[in-house]
Amino acid sequence: MRVIIFGAGGGVGSRTAAEALARGHEVTAVVRRPDSELPQGLAVVIGDAADPDQVARLSAGHDAAVSAVRAPTGREQEQVEATGALLKGAAASGVRLLIVGGAATLRVPDSGRTVLEDPRYIAEEWRAVAEASAAQHRLCEAEAEADWTYLSPPAVLEPGERTGRYRLGKDELLVAEDGTARISMEDLAIAVLDELEHPKHRRTRFTAAAA
Ligand SMILES: NC(=O)c1ccc[n+]([C@@H]2O[C@H](COP(=O)([O-])OP(=O)(O)OC[C@H]3O[C@@H](n4cnc5c(N)ncnc54)[C@H](OP(=O)(O)O)[C@@H]3O)[C@@H](O)[C@H]2O)c1
Repeated sequence: MRVIIFGAGGGVGSRTAAEALARGHEVTAVVRRPDSELPQGLAVVIGDAADPDQVARLSAGHDAAVSAVRAPTGREQEQVEATGALLKGAAASGVRLLIVGGAATLRVPDSGRTVLEDPRYIAEEWRAVAEASAAQHRLCEAEAEADWTYLSPPAVLEPGERTGRYRLGKDELLVAEDGTARISMEDLAIAVLDELEHPKHRRTRFTAAAA
C-alpha cells in the first residue's frame, strides 16, 4: 500500500510511519519542518494539513492517508480546522482517511457520561484539547463525501512498549480491571495499520486499548 501520514514527525505519526515501513508499505511523511526526526526509508514532503488543496495534491496516488496531527497548546481550535481541511482534501483526492483523534466523545461504562464530562479522565489542563477533539469527531460524523475513519485512543496514550496486542471497541471507553484506560503509541500504530490493511470501520469511529 502507499500510505501518506500527516503529522508524521509527532509521537503517534512517527510510530505509525515506523509500523507501516516495517510491514513493507511505501510511506510518504508530511511534515511542516524539514528537520523533523523521522525513521529511515520514508519519502518526506513538506506540507500543511490545514490546507485542503495541499492535502488533495499530496494524497493523490496514495491508497490511504493517516492524520496524526495535533495543534499546539493554546491553539486547539487549529485541530478542528485541520480536520475540516483533511476531510475536504481527502474527498477531493478520493483517498481513504484515518484520523487519530481523541477520547473525548467515548462513553464511560460505569457513569454513562462521556470522557469529556468525566473529571476522572479529563483533568482541567486537558479540557481545551478534549473539547477540540470532540468537535473534530463531530465534523467526521457530519462528513458525507470523504471516506473517513476516526480512531479514538483511550484516555491515556503515551510512548511505550510494542506488545503486539490490543483490544477493539466502538463508542465506549475500554477500561482495564485496574481502572486504567490506556494504550501505548506503538500498539496504537498497530491498530492503525491493521485497520488500513483490513478495513472494518469505514465512515465510523472505533477505539483500541491495551489488551
Ligand atoms: N488520550 C487521547 O485522546 C490522546 C492522547 C494523546 C494524543 N492524542 C491525539 O493523537 C493525535 C497525535 O498526537 P501526538 O501526541 O502524536 O501529537 P504530537 O506529538 O504533538 O505531534 C503532532 C504533529 O502534528 C503536526 N502538525 C500540527 N499541525 C499540523 C499541520 N497543520 N500540518 C501538518 N502537520 C501538523 C506537528 O508538527 P509541528 O512539529 O510542525 O507542529 C507534529 O509533528 C492527536 O490527534 C492527538 O489529539 C489523543
